[in-house]
Amino acid sequence: MQRPTGTIDGERTGDNPAAGCPVAGHGGAASATAEAPAPDVGAKAPGTYVPPCPMRPTAPPPVWKLIGLARRNFLSVWPSSAFAKPWLRVAVLRKQIFVCNSPDLVQEAFVRKHDTFERKSAQMRHALEPLLGDGLFISDGETWRRRRQIVGPIIHASKVRDFFPVMAETIAERRAAWEAAGPDAPVDMLQEMAHLTAEIICRTIFGRQLGRDYAAEVVNSFTDYQRHIDQIDLISLLGLPDWLPRRRGRAIRQAVARIDRVLDEIITSYEARRRDGETSVIGGLLDARDEDGKPLSREAIRNEAAVIFMAGHETTANTLAWTWFLLSQAPWARAALKDELDTVLAGRMPTYDDVARLPYTRAVIEETLRLYPPVPILAREALADETVGGVATPKGSLVMVVPWLLHRNPELWPRADHFEPERFLGATRGGQSKFGYVPFAIGPRICAGLAFGLTESILSLAILAQGFEARLEPGTDVQPVCRLTLRPGETLPMRLQSRAPSA
Ligand code: HEM
Repeated sequence: MQRPTGTIDGERTGDNPAAGCPVAGHGGAASATAEAPAPDVGAKAPGTYVPPCPMRPTAPPPVWKLIGLARRNFLSVWPSSAFAKPWLRVAVLRKQIFVCNSPDLVQEAFVRKHDTFERKSAQMRHALEPLLGDGLFISDGETWRRRRQIVGPIIHASKVRDFFPVMAETIAERRAAWEAAGPDAPVDMLQEMAHLTAEIICRTIFGRQLGRDYAAEVVNSFTDYQRHIDQIDLISLLGLPDWLPRRRGRAIRQAVARIDRVLDEIITSYEARRRDGETSVIGGLLDARDEDGKPLSREAIRNEAAVIFMAGHETTANTLAWTWFLLSQAPWARAALKDELDTVLAGRMPTYDDVARLPYTRAVIEETLRLYPPVPILAREALADETVGGVATPKGSLVMVVPWLLHRNPELWPRADHFEPERFLGATRGGQSKFGYVPFAIGPRICAGLAFGLTESILSLAILAQGFEARLEPGTDVQPVCRLTLRPGETLPMRLQSRAPSA
């Protein structure tokens, strides 16, 4: 049997199978400078630190190898030359894959031609359908439009002020737990941030009390589900139709049944002890009426609650975990952050209005989202024959924006692989088109929780970094790994160091 073949248009072939991160002083899979003594690990000045990225093949790998690489880590399939190209085209088995890698093409596909490219990829839909049903995240057409109209306003930027007290109090509890842990306490920062954001999103969705009561059960049941799904769905890659049954093991069915049970129980308890005055997502979903004045069904409420938990939990947790890691390697950034927090807050808790007064804190989060976008692939299926940038994208082909590539395109970003929060300061703020920076996607399907997630990240960093710095455990090799989201491996061992405000 012949091996399937694939091509990447315009790629030169090379004979070096892998050449790491293409920046002087960084050897691809090398460890994240963790051997250097604390606290002066990493680079000393802005513009000198290049955080880890996976090895980049100099030649496009053959398709059979590409699928294997993608299964293990989707970030390691891109050859060095792919980053600077405005677009790429790959043929994988029977599927055409077109990648938009310039602001113009991102705008063309995701905004101007949204109607043709609104549908999520078959891989994404099949991975999440058992969990989310017809939920907003994976639906399209009329269902998506109606749900977006209902869910969008419930978590919209204008509601973030109402959710702010719950966010702030949850973060303050985490800080108190860190204080109680004593000096130099070891933590798995990835897990710490996952617990924090899960608590925040649970209390936001289900209200303070139910959120507290059920957070652990909700987290465990979702984690269980994620363990069993496979991101690369070969049936879809083979170009076989949607109705073909996918392998859905007993473990997945059990995990879904458990999630449904927990969500039903929470919704029933919520209805029983409903209190006026508290803003919660469930309250918003129960009160919502569609265009015909009809309430959402119980199943739809459950699906949308699952969407918001899933979309809003791990994304923010990964952002914050990466932020702590990057800061641990960049003393100048820690100093600038400390200065800003001490000057603006002087030791007190931030208010909602303070968030806008913390430009450096925000820049650190934005630069983290550029380098390590939690959703590093945005994939859509063409619903009809179309063109993008004049290139044919036949019905059924995959059209993707890959923030991992776009955010490191050297034509758009000077010193693209460097950690430089400073690039997001001032009027130019990154100095480029909004279609070249898309950690929250762009167009009608842009993240419905953008303002929520950004505020939550800035606030978490402001409250926790006022009291603490975190040092990477020596000898830790941090590497970005992508399954459904991009994370710094399976754990992120760090030590907490409390700090006094400057005089
Ligand atoms: C740093 C944090 C976050 C990041 C980076 C992020 C990123 C994204 C991205 C890239 C998408 C589009 C995915 C795609 O097109 O395939 C998305 C969709 C979505 N996000 Fe977020 N998100 C974050 C936080 C949140 C939060 C906190 C919530 C809820 C409170 C949320 C709710 C949603 C929803 C409902 C969608 C689906 C929108 C639609 O399809 O119309 N996200 N997010």
